Amino acid sequence: MKNISRNAPCPCGSGKKYKRCHLKQDQQSQRFQKSSRPGIIIKSKEQVEGIRKSCQLTCRILDLLHEFIKPGMTTDQVNDWVHEYTIAHGAYPAPLNYRNFPKSVCTSLNDVICHGIPDGTVLKDGDILNVDVTCILDGFYGDANRMYPIGEISEEAKKLVHVSKECLDIGIQQVKPFNTIGDIGFAIQQHAEKHGFSVVRDFCGHGVGLEFHEDPQVPHYGNPKTGPVLMPNMVFTIEPMINAGRYESRIMSDRWTAKTVDGSLSAQWEHTVWVTETGVDVLSAPAS
Ligand code: MF3
Ligand code: CO
Ligand code: CO
Repeated sequence: MKNISRNAPCPCGSGKKYKRCHLKQDQQSQRFQKSSRPGIIIKSKEQVEGIRKSCQLTCRILDLLHEFIKPGMTTDQVNDWVHEYTIAHGAYPAPLNYRNFPKSVCTSLNDVICHGIPDGTVLKDGDILNVDVTCILDGFYGDANRMYPIGEISEEAKKLVHVSKECLDIGIQQVKPFNTIGDIGFAIQQHAEKHGFSVVRDFCGHGVGLEFHEDPQVPHYGNPKTGPVLMPNMVFTIEPMINAGRYESRIMSDRWTAKTVDGSLSAQWEHTVWVTETGVDVLSAPAS
């Protein structure tokens, strides 16, 4: 959060001094939620436009993957295509060598929650695959992911893929100035649990744009009116991971791949969003 002086006008526009308005709520949220420490970057107009360009390349890659991904293909082939396309368009794949991640994209199959590493695994009929793409274009990060059903998938898998997409959309609907990070997580958790699914706790959305992972953390569970207050020109991701069974995750020996503990299916969708003066602009959505 940018440091606002006590006597400055409250950024909520009430006309009151900050100390007589939202200061207390901000301080409380910082005390109760460890993730809410100062450090959220408020972006300039130029930075938002740079992040948008990067997000639009990410979006184009995710669009093209719907055509490219076929049963019989390996996740390595998906990786190589994304790598080449990214470089050919003047960008760099953020995952490559990020904290020793060895590939250019995350491919998370079936019971993999996130951070799956592309390899020789062959995609087969009935699989559900998440592909998570992050481009760095002119120094700006654009982060988004989608689900790719492989051939014909089960009714249970269809429902999970559909409900997890609704969770992302419902989370985005909570984004406007002076709502909180907790409002987003609460709405997502309500929706997932209403359908008998669970919300992964161990991974969150995040501030993004000038770095891959910035403050704040954006949990996909929680309570209304908690956590950092949303301010115009914050940019962050929302990326709910929803499990058909238990929410707990475990990390494999490759130190990246996170799977469900009970072998149940997991699905995820991600967008990068910009908090505008009046609401939200989804930077990684197809331009209309
Ligand atoms: N793109 C992921 C996210 O949404 C992060 C992947 S980190 C990597 O935050 F190293 F695995 F690429
Ligand atoms: Co992300
Ligand atoms: Co991502």
